[in-house]
Amino acid sequence: MQIETITTKPYQDQNPGTSGLRKKVKVFQQTGYLENFVQSIFDSLEETQGKVLVLGGDGRYFNRVAIQIIIKMAAANGFEELIIGQGGLLSTPAASHIIRKYQADGGLILSASHNPGGPDEDFGIKYNVNNGGPAPEKFTQAVFQRSQVIDQYKTADIPDIDLDNIGIAQFEALKVTIIDPVTDYAELLETIFDFKVLKQSISSGYITLLFDAMSAITGPYAKRILVDILGAPADSVINAEPLEDFGGHHPDPNLAHAHELAERMFSDNAPVFGAASDGDGDRNMITGSNIFVTPSDSLAIMAANAHLIPAYKAGLSGVARSMPTSQAVDRVAASYKIPCYETPTGWKFFGNLLDAGKITLCGEESFGTGSTHVREKDGLWAVLFWLNLIAVKRQTVADIVQEHWQKFGRDIYCRHDYEAIETPIANGIVDHLRAQLPTLPGQVFGEYLVSYADEFCYEDSIDGSISKNQGIRVGFENGSRIVFRLSGTGTVGATLRIYIERFEADPEKHNQEAQTALAFLIELAEQLCEVKQRTGRSEPNVIT
Ligand code: G1P
Ligand code: ZN
Repeated sequence: MQIETITTKPYQDQNPGTSGLRKKVKVFQQTGYLENFVQSIFDSLEETQGKVLVLGGDGRYFNRVAIQIIIKMAAANGFEELIIGQGGLLSTPAASHIIRKYQADGGLILSASHNPGGPDEDFGIKYNVNNGGPAPEKFTQAVFQRSQVIDQYKTADIPDIDLDNIGIAQFEALKVTIIDPVTDYAELLETIFDFKVLKQSISSGYITLLFDAMSAITGPYAKRILVDILGAPADSVINAEPLEDFGGHHPDPNLAHAHELAERMFSDNAPVFGAASDGDGDRNMITGSNIFVTPSDSLAIMAANAHLIPAYKAGLSGVARSMPTSQAVDRVAASYKIPCYETPTGWKFFGNLLDAGKITLCGEESFGTGSTHVREKDGLWAVLFWLNLIAVKRQTVADIVQEHWQKFGRDIYCRHDYEAIETPIANGIVDHLRAQLPTLPGQVFGEYLVSYADEFCYEDSIDGSISKNQGIRVGFENGSRIVFRLSGTGTVGATLRIYIERFEADPEKHNQEAQTALAFLIELAEQLCEVKQRTGRSEPNVIT
């Protein structure tokens, strides 16, 4: 094969965010844009010769085009094998598993997760390392540095690969293996959960369920696992066909975007269990008949009940949550006398703890939960976890949640997002918050005494790396918190996220609506950050 070296000019904006590089498709379509970034990744690896790479994406617009470009570049850069999901599809957790299972050297995952897709929407790419997890910051920063000076990339003149047929093709030294995207992942889940009990509960009608794949990657996975293997009726999975534009919707599993599911779950004849996943299959939203489980509570409930799941019956070595996630899981960890780690936002920070066996479960408030089984958060895994709990506890979702709150208390929680703020205004908000940090401790607002106000800085206990500026925290003496941070995944302007929580021990007060119960702190958050005042907006774009 002929290898060509193409001269290119660097782009200055290829700085990966919370989870890889995400930009508008039109940005990725600029001459050499994708190629520069991919070559920057390859140049940042110690070695590409003879290496094995997993490749797949969530099927969004530009996925197939990008895959063909990457195959040619991988060939030119000396990779020995590419393992690609049929149709160019791999959910993020499945990609993580395949890297691990086949001992690949890494993987490229093409996705902008929960961001919309289509010619005018978003695309993304990230590199995962050989443990199956997102590359650490040290690597993503090296890629960014490289992208700023890159002046050439390599590509090979091989024909486009047929992505739709499973099998192996050889192009001189490069082997291209097209695999079924679901089989390995389904087999993995079968080793974790009690499929026999799940089948019985579903076939007997004890568990009725609804899963919304949101026209994204989990459609084929959910159909195979929930319908074909576990025997749920075919109409239990809705929006199951992956579409390049996700049907024009946000493939983001929350009550606002998974509205079809939300309507059915909050109706008179709602199924026992309902869930949704996002564009690339790593997020999950859990609901039951007339109840929504906040992701922070879901993580805590999973931790508290993990011993009922076959793979975790020996108990958990520890748990971790991202800093803005509520402290509900901390209470479970304290009661079970296991360590609980607090990491910055983004899954990459869990990798070292999982690899070192320090934690078994981890999660984020942003609808992400996962465990040692892969190195990404995993939507369908969380769904099966809950189904397995319902099957063995013989309780409804609402009963499981109530029982948990009674035992541990409730961390009432919400997140307000202000999207697409003009960047200078967003920076002004952050500067304004920062300026107040020294004087906040000791101040009293209503019944809330500020006990600390700082900017979260994380020191990784395994490799000693330090990550600064990971969100502004205002903590109160009674354990309540307000956290502010700017999103690292948005592609338009800046998104301010405000996370608010308050602990309620009294069971009589557990069934309050979160916005009402948190009204004072929500108002205080505005007083501190002035987002409404500075943007002229009257309310957040999304409340979760
Ligand atoms: C968001 C979530 C974060 C998650 C990431 C990738 O990042 O907040 O928890 O890990 O998406 O799914 P953010 O936009 O806040 O930087
Ligand atoms: Zn995702």
